Amino acid sequence: MNPIIRVVLAGLLALTAQAAFAHGTAEPAVASFEADVTSLPPLPPGEGNTYRGNAQVAAFGRALFNQTCARCHGVDAVSKNLPGPDLTRLDRACRPIADAEVRARCMADNDAFFLDSVQNGKVRVGVSHMPAWKGVLSPQLIWTLRTFLESKAPARRPD
Ligand code: HEC
Repeated sequence: MNPIIRVVLAGLLALTAQAAFAHGTAEPAVASFEADVTSLPPLPPGEGNTYRGNAQVAAFGRALFNQTCARCHGVDAVSKNLPGPDLTRLDRACRPIADAEVRARCMADNDAFFLDSVQNGKVRVGVSHMPAWKGVLSPQLIWTLRTFLESKAPARRPD
């Protein structure tokens, strides 16, 4: 089997675009991402982001993020004057929690929110703000994105 798996976003997004952008303003993304998915360690079994803390996966996620998300959320997730929010702040309420078990539950809630946001996109009052990536990015690839974003987040941020 060819070890290089090509994830071509353009064609698939064109299909998604017809539904998601029919009444929206966001333009469909046109990008292609080529990566050696076999270089990724297998996703450990379990709920949520089971790649958490894996630096190799974070590096993969960074490359994928910069090709698929950066135009709205910023290169390397540095978001300034862009339509998408700063995604490194997603866990800001979880990080200061001292109790490890409660903190893990907080992160698990955010895992579910992240997966849902990326798979289904963001539509508000009929206007599409973010495309849906269901069928384009597998959960495995979505968790590489979250692992990258978590690696960018400060250990603790008061706010
Ligand atoms: C066309 C621009 C665009 C692209 C491309 C895009 N997003 Fe977004 N995203 C947005 C906007 C705008 C919002 C805020 C929408 C809202 O809250 O209604 C958002 C919200 C989100 C949220 C929810 C954040 C929160 O705090 O509420 C997540 C998670 C997210 N995006 C992840 C991603 C990821 C991962 C990618 C790449 C696979 C991506 N986005 C690609 C525009 C985009």
